[in-house]
Amino acid sequence: MKEPNPKIYGDTRKQSNQLKKTISKPQNIKSIIRISGDKSISHRAAILNAMAEGIAEVKNFCVGDDQESVIRCLRTLGTEITHSIDYQDNHPIHSFKIVGNGKNGFKEPQSSLDCGNSGTCMRLISGLLAGQKFNTVLTGDDSLSKRPMTRIANPLKLMGANIIPVNNSSNEEIRAPFEIKGTNLNSINYKSPVSSAQVKSCILIAGAYANGVTSITEPSKSRDHTERMMKAMGAKIEINDDKISIENSKLKAQNIVIPGDISSAAFWIILAACHNNSELFIPNIGLNPTRTGILEVLIKMGANIDISNQKTELGEPRGDLTVKSSVLTGITIEGSIIPKIIDEIPILSLAACFASGETIIKDAQELRVKESDRIKATVQGLFALGANITETKDGMIIKNSPNLRGAEVNSHGDHRIAMMLGIAGLITEGQTTITNAEAANISYPNFWDQIDKF
Ligand code: S3P
Repeated sequence: MKEPNPKIYGDTRKQSNQLKKTISKPQNIKSIIRISGDKSISHRAAILNAMAEGIAEVKNFCVGDDQESVIRCLRTLGTEITHSIDYQDNHPIHSFKIVGNGKNGFKEPQSSLDCGNSGTCMRLISGLLAGQKFNTVLTGDDSLSKRPMTRIANPLKLMGANIIPVNNSSNEEIRAPFEIKGTNLNSINYKSPVSSAQVKSCILIAGAYANGVTSITEPSKSRDHTERMMKAMGAKIEINDDKISIENSKLKAQNIVIPGDISSAAFWIILAACHNNSELFIPNIGLNPTRTGILEVLIKMGANIDISNQKTELGEPRGDLTVKSSVLTGITIEGSIIPKIIDEIPILSLAACFASGETIIKDAQELRVKESDRIKATVQGLFALGANITETKDGMIIKNSPNLRGAEVNSHGDHRIAMMLGIAGLITEGQTTITNAEAANISYPNFWDQIDKF
């Protein structure tokens, strides 16, 4: 059965802006949890296929407001994209057909591009816009308009594009809204000061437009979906552990079946590990080694996780996970693992409350410039539930505090904080109320429906 997604087709059935969810601990957690497609891979599949020549079917696309943002921006640039839903065991599988423009076939937009809440959309699309023959203004919501964009503006300026903030003066950090003046780009050899897949991807996408060889190194390796997908699409790209280089390249459209999102699965993995009577089966999850840091850390802490049915499709490994009640031990988490668990640190902090001893998280200052200041938001939320947790400059220290008790806590408008607090409600005595719970829609619109089943 196929039907259009009402939101994508303009009927905005948005959930209330002030959704409050009240949750309490169930006796057991035994179920199958199906997760929609990986958000990072979905963004790349949409943007790179829009730049490509040919038509691609992208199956199991992520569902969420961020996915709508990227599709909306690409359509505003003239890309023909159609949506359909199939059902597998009553579970909706979203697909998009993308008619590639070829990298120079985008149309000058008649309005600014609204990236919503999505940093990935804004930073990756900026790489594409820098190589166009027209100028574009990019905007975002309140949260995205506070996030740092100098990290992409600097390399794009070195390549010859001009990035002009609409509001702030030239000495300040560049933030949205800003205008990108596209041009013929020059190649650069860029040493990124941050480990950021969004920065790396922006430069690689711009590199496909530039004359010569563009290369990038970063302090520690971040997720590598862009380079894997560009290679599979025929780009002239060389991938080494510490340096990625790309020459001016054309891309060929590529059908893709996206694996389930490990960052969404992380909420359920930690629920099963921390609840005293649990067994969860989570099929078809992406197991790219730059994303499985969460499994490495949890296994080191003693989590009972089994990985089965492993295979690789189109350069992206995937497999099924089974997670059971576990006895966890605190550890120190720092250094090169941090970019590989960057989105999972809030939910990992909840697991640390249930671990014996002390868990120290260091080198995670990037969390301060995510959809919210995730160090502050995590510490505030868990402290309100009774956790022994202390904020540090670049992370937090969490001492064993398994007797969490329900309270009213706030998502700070951040999807990953909302969902971490929802999972906390399932392993906390008493009632936990999460305000601004609608934030989960950004990456996981059926999260609260799945929670309600327990
Ligand atoms: C993402 C990269 C990460 C991550 C974000 C998605 C991506 O950001 O936090 O949720 O898809 O490239 P940074 O690369 O800026 O660390």
